[in-house]
Amino acid sequence: MDTQIGIIYGSTTGNTERAAELIAKQLGPQAVLHNIAEQGLEGVSSYSACIFGVPTWDFGELQEDWEDLWEEFVKLNLQGKPCALFGLGDQIGYAEWFLDAMGLLHEVLQASGAKIYGRWPVQGYKFEASKALSPDGRFFVGLALDDDCQFAETEERIKIWVEELKPLFEL
Ligand SMILES: Cc1cc2nc3c(=O)[nH]c(=O)nc-3n(C[C@H](O)[C@H](O)[C@H](O)COP(=O)(O)O)c2cc1C
Repeated sequence: MDTQIGIIYGSTTGNTERAAELIAKQLGPQAVLHNIAEQGLEGVSSYSACIFGVPTWDFGELQEDWEDLWEEFVKLNLQGKPCALFGLGDQIGYAEWFLDAMGLLHEVLQASGAKIYGRWPVQGYKFEASKALSPDGRFFVGLALDDDCQFAETEERIKIWVEELKPLFEL
């Protein structure tokens, strides 16, 4: 079978879904959209590479579909699999919890032995705290998107990020 890149996401009000669709468009025909509300996590381990999308809700919590599948998610075998993350949040409304859920997913990917790519610089954002930062605080652990405060930046950020990812995913 051809290389397939799963874009695995949950979305309550549609912003993460829209970002997932833009990422798929930028990646091209190898991208497969995988909404966990409809498909659960079945088949995730079979993708050649995985891109996980999560918005943060309720003061630093996982989006509800991720919450529902969390026990299954932590048990996935992603050893050696190329993976990347994108998160949606609101840096003004929820400055103390900006993109925390992306940080929670990142911890699980790290523990499962995935090869994690696609960190993203913190320049251009204003927030107070985030669980989605690299240890030195200079990067987010994945692509940081904020449709509430910086909607106009989303499409360009996705383009840049996906082009950086392509060679790392060996496309
Ligand atoms: C009730 C509520 C709580 C939220 N909590 C957070 C939060 O703790 N941290 C954050 O970065 N964004 C938070 N947000 C912003 C959402 O993550 C943001 O609107 C996101 O784009 C929603 O994605 P979705 O449409 O895919 O569900 C919150 C939004 C709402 C309405």
